[in-house]
Amino acid sequence: MIKKQLRKAVIPAAGFGTRMLPFAKSVPKELIPLVDKPVLQYVVEEAVAAGADEILIIISSGKEAIIRHFETAVELEKRLAESGKTALLEEMQKLNHLADISFVYQQELKGLGDAVSMAKEFAGGDPVLILLGDTVMDSAVSRSVAGQLVDVYEKTGSSVVALEEVPDEKVSSYGIADGREIADGILKLSRLVEKPALADAPGRLAVAARYLFTPGIFTALAETLPGLHGEIQLTDAIVKLMQNESVYGCRIRGKRYDLGTPAGFVMANVEFALRRSDLHDTILERLKSVQ
Ligand code: G1P
Repeated sequence: MIKKQLRKAVIPAAGFGTRMLPFAKSVPKELIPLVDKPVLQYVVEEAVAAGADEILIIISSGKEAIIRHFETAVELEKRLAESGKTALLEEMQKLNHLADISFVYQQELKGLGDAVSMAKEFAGGDPVLILLGDTVMDSAVSRSVAGQLVDVYEKTGSSVVALEEVPDEKVSSYGIADGREIADGILKLSRLVEKPALADAPGRLAVAARYLFTPGIFTALAETLPGLHGEIQLTDAIVKLMQNESVYGCRIRGKRYDLGTPAGFVMANVEFALRRSDLHDTILERLKSVQ
């Protein structure tokens, strides 16, 4: 197989965000802020850092604010220029040129697998990174988490999913994988189950919001029937892919922040705010005073 360079990324951001209602009723959960930047912008920046320059964001009706976030805001930029807010203006202009970003609608919300299948034409036979739009990855090394998957793809030419160990009580919330460790932190996957009961789980390694797929995933998705909760599960398509091609898992070096739940959202904001020198002291002092 001829290995192609990774240039494309897909960000599913079509779901209702029921775990973040009532907030997510009118604002896409992917635009929830992590301090002062929407989660989705962190995700786009991670994709760009991993080498993607073409990005497809999968949205659904009512989530058009996502499109606006990546469009030029003419009036706003004019106002920032007039008032001499140069740093902010530059930041807004940089946002307009992060990557070549396009959008597609998932018509019916039939599951993550169905959402990803919307990217078939965009992929056009090339490998694609998939980054879930409500999860921020904070890498522990200089390479971004998506970049760590690209490194495995460059070595193997195969699909690779991000893995992270989770405690027993979290097993039933994730796709759980098992396989043989072929190199430090890299597994050749043999099993994958979507949200298993603890007793049926093949291990404790959870699929962690980042994937890199060869074009074979789209053939597998086309053959995947509705699974758990009557949805087309991406996990089930990966199991099909594993019957034809090797699929690897990469233990991520970094921390995952799921902002799609109230606790995840609050904790991530506290942590990221404490890292900022302009906010650290004020926030810490306030936190110490609340019980
Ligand atoms: C999805 C996937 C699951 C994965 C999880 C986190 O679940 O179906 O396999 O482990 O994302 O990446 P969701 O969180 O959308 O229910």
